[in-house]
Amino acid sequence: MKTTVADFSAMKKRGEKISMVTSYDYSTAKLVDESGINSILVGDSLGMVMLGYEDTLSVTMEDMIHHCSAVKRGAQNALVVCDMPFMSYQTSVYDAVKNAGRLMKEGRANAVKLEGGVEFAEHIRAIVNASIPVCAHIGMTPQSVNAFGGFKVQGKDFATAKKVIDDALAVEKAGAFAVVLECVPADLAEYVSKQLSIPTIGIGAGAGCDGQVLVYQDMLGMYGTFMPKFCKRYCETGEMMRAAFKQYDKEVKSGEFPAAEHTFKIDKELLDNIINKKED
Ligand code: KIV
Repeated sequence: MKTTVADFSAMKKRGEKISMVTSYDYSTAKLVDESGINSILVGDSLGMVMLGYEDTLSVTMEDMIHHCSAVKRGAQNALVVCDMPFMSYQTSVYDAVKNAGRLMKEGRANAVKLEGGVEFAEHIRAIVNASIPVCAHIGMTPQSVNAFGGFKVQGKDFATAKKVIDDALAVEKAGAFAVVLECVPADLAEYVSKQLSIPTIGIGAGAGCDGQVLVYQDMLGMYGTFMPKFCKRYCETGEMMRAAFKQYDKEVKSGEFPAAEHTFKIDKELLDNIINKKED
């Protein structure tokens, strides 16, 4: 059964936790979907984990549309949420609605996500008024890495903790159906989750959130050696892939691969005839 934004709300009311993980392509989305995870985030983290940029700022609308439509083809049941990339909504309310619409029409997303709280409430309201569900994203918002001076935990002092609370209340009031809380202290995230009627989806925000989201390369050990403190490694896929590629390289070079069972046959007499004719 397809998960909808109404299910998110119902799950919060029932006290059921919501699971979300990123995907950026068809085959990964299919695996995630088949595992029963409630929602797939086509995050602009794709700029880092898929495209190799040092941050998310260079990601374009075209990148998001391309990856989101691939994910959507693999996701039968999970709610597909697509990130609005840097400068696709900050410039004006008009741009926000127009670009959110493109992610829905061309990327076939079920909802969009954008970073920011109080200062983007008007943008969220306008997108929601265009019948596009919005997931907000507050706390440590990676598109603001230069303004923050790094990927830093937010909400540890009075001013930033108050900002997290104000932002959460503002995005709920503006009509967001959920809000991602990234890298905020667990007790603060739990307090915020209790204040809101919409679900909070945490990443580095502790167990008091209504749901959790992780970048799949982090949880599967596929993105470098650095692992964020908040991430749990569920397996070492990177190690397995490296070992398999090494073995393949060895077998190609030694002639061990391909073996007879990996090849197609032709009738020997037919081949002889062809070769002999060519030589005539
Ligand atoms: O882009 C992304 O993957 C995200 C998550 C880190 C929440 O926004």
